[in-house]
Amino acid sequence: MPIAVVILAAGQGSRMNSDTPKVLHQVAGAPLLVHAMLSARGLEAEQTVVVTGVGGAQVEQVAKTFDPDAIAVNQAEQQGTGHAVKQAEAALTDFTGDVIVLYGDTPFVRPETLQAMLNKRAEGNGVVVLGFEATDPGHYGRLWSTTEDGLMAIIEAKDATPEQLQISLCNSGVICADRKVLFDLLGKVGNDNASGEYYLTDIVALARAEGLRCAAISCDEAETQGVNSRADLAAAEASFQARARGAAMENGTTLTAPDTVYFSFDTIIGRDVIVEPNVVFGPDVTVESGAIIRAFSHLEGCHVSQHAIIGPYARLRPGAEIGDGARVGNFVEVKAALVGEGAKINHLSYVGDAEVGDAANIGAGTIICNYDGVFKHKTVIGKRAFIGSNTALVAPVRVGDDAMTGSGSVITSDVPDEAMAISRAKQANKPGLALRLMNKLRAAKAARSKE
Ligand code: UD1
Ligand code: MG
Repeated sequence: MPIAVVILAAGQGSRMNSDTPKVLHQVAGAPLLVHAMLSARGLEAEQTVVVTGVGGAQVEQVAKTFDPDAIAVNQAEQQGTGHAVKQAEAALTDFTGDVIVLYGDTPFVRPETLQAMLNKRAEGNGVVVLGFEATDPGHYGRLWSTTEDGLMAIIEAKDATPEQLQISLCNSGVICADRKVLFDLLGKVGNDNASGEYYLTDIVALARAEGLRCAAISCDEAETQGVNSRADLAAAEASFQARARGAAMENGTTLTAPDTVYFSFDTIIGRDVIVEPNVVFGPDVTVESGAIIRAFSHLEGCHVSQHAIIGPYARLRPGAEIGDGARVGNFVEVKAALVGEGAKINHLSYVGDAEVGDAANIGAGTIICNYDGVFKHKTVIGKRAFIGSNTALVAPVRVGDDAMTGSGSVITSDVPDEAMAISRAKQANKPGLALRLMNKLRAAKAARSKE
């Protein structure tokens, strides 16, 4: 059965106290909205419609960057969740199949849970709702079910009787129904309730009135964790990280101090990787088996091959591609550079817009001068090349295979294969001068203190 996903993302999120639309605040390096879109991707949804409102253009741009096929529709005035879903109707007129409604501020609903809802739909239920046993049911809508007839209605807390408020199975907000059924029912939803809003939740009672069976399935409360404030955002980050650390260890990664390692939503780490304390993985990082990421390293947009050793205190920026068994040591920054197999950049260097050949050795303090103030230029260092400490390589420049540079050199033109380039002032030794100079200075100091 084809699936479409509608993500509600029009709300203002006033409790965030922010100029950024709520759904664009990030957890694990991705906007909340992208987390919701990832759940949809997990279902291979045929169509994703994002309902935008506050900061609509910005939200639309993020949605389309993540999924160019996503459709954004605007809800100019927030008149309730039912009204919000209705905005997606025109975008889905040609779609036949089940529609799942998600919230853009609820990032952790698992694709498996959504699949369980779809299965429940396939059993002949007109509307399927995702519920959870709330530790504090508070303002959540309550799922009223009977043993015989299944889910009867969702009752918003504001409209509930004291008895109904006793129900602890609450509405997560995620709802699934056939496209035509959903929009037909929404057409009948009114706003005669405590909030004066068009409630999506009313479709359950309306479906029942038409003789359609409805059902609820329930998930862990953690999956329905929503974000309404900065504190919620921090709590969502913490729960994401706790899960990611657990999953990494489960998959065979050693984390010596798990609580100090931060993953992104898309970090991929192979078996038998060791991650030491205080490592941060920004978005788009892959680390292959057997690599070691030593303490206090920061990685983003990079790929670390097998058995490479990164850090301590290394920074891998986007486009860093580290070869098998290569080493990137302390206070080394690598950006948009291929570092060949077994190459070593062990200390205090900047390597940007470059290729470093297999088994090359980059001495301490080597700086690639890749930027002339306007353009970036490329540097190529050959296989087994040896770059002397404190070399400045002024790009564009190529150092050949098996070539060397003398320490302290400023290399501005290509170095042929096997050649040695030295570009610095020649050393001159003045015999006895150091001693004569010191004696003179000491005598001057003594004369001064007598004055
Ligand atoms: C809603 C549910 C409630 C459920 C709770 C779970 C309704 C009527 N109530 O209540 O049963 O327990 O979520 O968190 O559906 N939104 C729009 N446009 C609107 C209104 C809302 O896009 O016009 C978006 C919001 O940005 C938010 C989501 O829909 O992401 C839910 O809206 P919210 O106002 O938080 O609903 P609740 O009152 O919490
Ligand atoms: Mg809410």
